[in-house]
Amino acid sequence: MNAARIDEVIGEFVNLKKSGSSLKGLSPWSDEKTPSFMVSPAKGIFKDFSTGKGGNVVTFLMEHEHFNYPEALRWLAQRYNIEVEEEKPTPEMEEARSERESLYVINEFASDWLVKQMWEAEEGKTIALSYFKERGFNESIIKKFQLGYNPDDFQAFTNVASDKGYKDQYLLSTGLVKQKNDRKYDGYKGRVMFPIQNLSGRIIGFGGRTLKADKNIPKYINSPENPIYDKSSSLYGLYFAKSAIAKEDNCYLVEGYTDVISFHQKQIENTVASSGTALTKEQVKLVSRYTQNITLVYDGDKAGLKASLRGIDMILEQGMHVKVIMLPDGHDPDSFSKEHDRIEIKEYLVDSARDFIAFKAHLLMEEAKGDPIKTNDVIHAMVESIALIPDTILRSIYINECSKLMHVSEKALISELNKSLRKNHKQNNRFRGRDELPEPPVIENDFQEEQKFVEDTLEYQERDLLRLMINYPHSRFALELPTDETPEPEQHNVLEFILDEIEGDEIVFETEKYRLLFQSIAERYNDHGFDQNYFIQNTDEKLQSSFIDLMTFPYNLDDWERKEIFVDSEEKKLKRAVMEAIYAYKSKRVERMIKETQQMLKDAMLIGGDMEVYLKKQLKLEEVKREINRVLGRTVLH
Ligand code: CTP
Ligand code: MN
Repeated sequence: MNAARIDEVIGEFVNLKKSGSSLKGLSPWSDEKTPSFMVSPAKGIFKDFSTGKGGNVVTFLMEHEHFNYPEALRWLAQRYNIEVEEEKPTPEMEEARSERESLYVINEFASDWLVKQMWEAEEGKTIALSYFKERGFNESIIKKFQLGYNPDDFQAFTNVASDKGYKDQYLLSTGLVKQKNDRKYDGYKGRVMFPIQNLSGRIIGFGGRTLKADKNIPKYINSPENPIYDKSSSLYGLYFAKSAIAKEDNCYLVEGYTDVISFHQKQIENTVASSGTALTKEQVKLVSRYTQNITLVYDGDKAGLKASLRGIDMILEQGMHVKVIMLPDGHDPDSFSKEHDRIEIKEYLVDSARDFIAFKAHLLMEEAKGDPIKTNDVIHAMVESIALIPDTILRSIYINECSKLMHVSEKALISELNKSLRKNHKQNNRFRGRDELPEPPVIENDFQEEQKFVEDTLEYQERDLLRLMINYPHSRFALELPTDETPEPEQHNVLEFILDEIEGDEIVFETEKYRLLFQSIAERYNDHGFDQNYFIQNTDEKLQSSFIDLMTFPYNLDDWERKEIFVDSEEKKLKRAVMEAIYAYKSKRVERMIKETQQMLKDAMLIGGDMEVYLKKQLKLEEVKREINRVLGRTVLH
């Protein structure tokens, strides 16, 4: 971290120009025309104002290159010639590594050979290449996806692979070679070949399509599972799609190899396929590295659609947003993209995408045809889907929508939802082996009530206090103006002053992320003194990202530099900002206490409690409030 220079590293990916004390460039995550991507070499941070992303040199590599943490560190180590001592592998690890490596090598050899067979051999040219071309694939897409052909001969590949000296054991485990009794033969005889790439583009397996119309042979043969090919955690096309998925912030999920290739040929590159199987959790997690939005593209014939509904619930459970597109009757993505140009396809995809929840509700309601018992089942099915969504606000929105769609009161849906939530909660915890756990947060009956609650939080004030602590920790100001007796009034530093004010009143921040940040800053300050780098380089992702957010909030581009001048030269402004932040916060907290006391007073009047206690408390609080406002007023007038 200390060796890495953020401007150098980011400069390898983004064209940066000097702008004051920082550097400016075009955001790598959006298509902007005016630069809003800033790098501060002095602070070691970047901030992308167009997407809100921000972080240090490691988080940049993780975001931009989709590295995980160790991968990012290795990249940096290599860039700055620092040797990383990896754990010494055991003999078992070495062996497993060498097996995996052998499988990769065989697949790569095979793929090169299969491609050659198609482009250079007479049989391949007339049978396979012409097949792909007739299907409408152009040469460049055929090359990009490394499509190939296994000749229609029992041992064509088996012979060349054996001649190369590859071990039988490995050849068999790739599925490219098969064995019956003592005889070895080609696993993909007479098939056109679709290699499957992993995230770094290495070939982990193949799908082979027959060219025969015979219904008795399988249309596709896919690689068997082996140490490098795990079907449930790979997605066809993801290697070619990942950057488009991140850029478009959406992933189209289609059914087959040819659908993926056809969409890519039309430059709709954010497309992947789960290759004929139901989508798995691992596959959804893979997509969620690049986007939270998944759009399922279905064939126009609705077959199998209902069966897949359950699988989709699993996507919701991962917190992803799901949309559904139905293609016109009789079309799959492959055939559809042959009949339309890129603009038409894009238009159709955008116009006909429907939210999954609404889609499911429509589909099931249509089926129930007003039958009350079936309708009741539909309502339950819908509520169960909604209960899987982790986000509370999103759940309320869907409840609201379903209530309109299905003509059921929101209240009834919410009470069903809360039942479902409790049930899921209990089930989840049974597996964790705990008996008693607090109930999960359920939605209030009145959505309006919830919104009011959101506005009534102290989040903004807490954020403002932290922002001052983080950005001007050591800046100093005097509370009093100089007089004849005290020509040099006492100086305070911002960080310490705010810490004292908040901790002195035993105030605990109520917004969770800010409470954590405040506590960490307080601890760090007491033990070591405050330094920004400790937080900028922190490996606790949450802590680090809320810290950097605050370092760059809420200044827009023009303010980015101006605020540094502000610190040095305008002590008075700083003092006012600090005092306002503290006392506005305290004032809001006191107001809230007054309201609570009033409520208790009312309750006491009704049910006969000790009214005097509350009255006294209220008077005292009013007095505190006046005092706070006096301080505030004085500060503002100065
Ligand atoms: N599939 C499979 N085995 C089969 C049939 C299908 O593994 N016997 C998988 C393949 O990944 C295939 C996907 O399911 O790509 C979708 O099947 P289908 O629509 O039949 O194939 P397409 O890819 O559309 O191929 P084509 O257009 O050539 O018919
Ligand atoms: Mn097809």
